[in-house]
Amino acid sequence: MPVPIPEARWPTAAEAARSRLFSPGRIGPAATASRTWIPAMVPWRASDDGFVTDDVVGWYGRFAEGRPGVLVVEATGIRDVPSGPLLRAGGDRFVPGLARIADEVRRRSGGRTVLLLQIIDFLAIKRRPDRDVHLRRFQRIDGGLRARLAAAAADPAWESAPDESVREELVRRSDGELASILPPRDLESMRMGWRERVTDVGSDHIRDLPRTLPPLFAAAARRAEQAGFHGVELHFAHAYTMASFLSATNTRSDGYGTTLEGRARLPLEVLAAVRAAVSPQSVVGCRMLADEAIPGGSTLSDAAWFATEFARAGIDFLSLSKGGKFDDAKQPAVGQAAYPYTGPSGHECMPTVRIDARGPFARNLPLASAVRAAVRAAGFGTPVAAAGGFNSFELAEAALRGGHADFVAAARQSLADPDWWEKMRTGRGAAVRRCLFTNYCEALDQRHLEVTCQLWDRLRTAGEADPPLAKDGRRRLLPPPEDPGAAEPHIAQSSVGRANLGR
Ligand SMILES: Cc1cc2nc3c(=O)[nH]c(=O)nc-3n(C[C@H](O)[C@H](O)[C@H](O)COP(=O)(O)O)c2cc1C
Ligand code: SF4
Repeated sequence: MPVPIPEARWPTAAEAARSRLFSPGRIGPAATASRTWIPAMVPWRASDDGFVTDDVVGWYGRFAEGRPGVLVVEATGIRDVPSGPLLRAGGDRFVPGLARIADEVRRRSGGRTVLLLQIIDFLAIKRRPDRDVHLRRFQRIDGGLRARLAAAAADPAWESAPDESVREELVRRSDGELASILPPRDLESMRMGWRERVTDVGSDHIRDLPRTLPPLFAAAARRAEQAGFHGVELHFAHAYTMASFLSATNTRSDGYGTTLEGRARLPLEVLAAVRAAVSPQSVVGCRMLADEAIPGGSTLSDAAWFATEFARAGIDFLSLSKGGKFDDAKQPAVGQAAYPYTGPSGHECMPTVRIDARGPFARNLPLASAVRAAVRAAGFGTPVAAAGGFNSFELAEAALRGGHADFVAAARQSLADPDWWEKMRTGRGAAVRRCLFTNYCEALDQRHLEVTCQLWDRLRTAGEADPPLAKDGRRRLLPPPEDPGAAEPHIAQSSVGRANLGR
């Protein structure tokens, strides 16, 4: 059963003015007008070659109208390689587009929003192959595999049979039998699609990541500063390269894995390179996991240690998240790539009202609180942003007043209603369009479709000119202008929403 969204008591304007949520804050060199924060959300609006489009500019401009203290622009690639419609900062030609976002956010927030670019590196991942195609074309046939097949079949002839016969025999075997015949990594590639790992040090480019990544992150951060961003958020979280270095699953033996020190080494070198590349006025923080939430993964105590080391190295903020790993992702359909938010760790990352009896509401705050306490105990005042299910003034204010966090980050509630911060601040909380936490938006993200919210993508405000629509021609791309009273359902209910309510 889904957990109901708790009723909210909204503050009067006077109460908001006295609140901690709407009190000024600071992240390193940047003063923030409030402790409100919109964390990174990929909206799938970049061009196919990673450039900022009008839709990207409109998207962030719309969020800026709600005047969050901090707005983090979606995960943006640091490499100059094709990566589909994901924003990129891997070359100087991307700077003018990024500058358009910065200009728009400055204009529409009245200069009240600190703007950060989340910069990311990710490794290669392939789509799940058809089983038989994989076995016939791509499976490596070596002595070990032959020996295991011979043992399973109780027939030594397989040790010397022609490759083609071995392949056909593998095709005939059940998945259960293949589990004891194929090497574990090949079995995983067949079931999930091949995925590169930071531990694949047999590949030159993976072995060399500690040499190649710091300058790539540094150059991307410099471009963000040139474009007029206040700084960057280094993406050290979820399923991507830097989080994989921090992970307890990182067994690299070259000094960049295995121990806590080894796992933190590359992130610290990236931080140092970025810091050296930007001016002292530029913010450099990171997003990291307070818990990987996978069996054998990093835990809260690892995260507290990493956070303290980042603080010691002078990081400007720590934005905490949880889970979101490939390790426990659901098997994708044939022809689809694995998506790191489909398993238990993914559910912890973007918790829904169906997750369990506790529901998503400030669910990950105890983790953020413990990380913050460890950082404070080590003598550092580094601000901590907490995310996960924040949807009311009371939750946000209690997190701040209780000393659990310094900033409250709300992704989906801000997507449901980008004006919600301003509505709260000005005593109009009753007009907030409240997120349902059923992850219709996340289902769109998973399918690489333009992200919209089920609460507004079929609304049309009276008298409004035709708003820009998604490629499917049915969903508006931006929330209607603020005046929910005047908005009317235009098309009944989204099929994507219905399909996904079970997640
Ligand atoms: C559509 C969508 C896209 C997201 N993209 C990113 C991303 O690019 N980088 C990131 O660190 N987190 C990303 N997240 C995770 C959010 O920043 C946030 O941590 C998560 O949704 C939990 O917060 P919430 O409960 O306030 O939504 C995304 C979330 C959603 C719903
Ligand atoms: S689509 Fe659903 S989960 Fe996503 S922001 Fe809207 S109401 Fe919230």
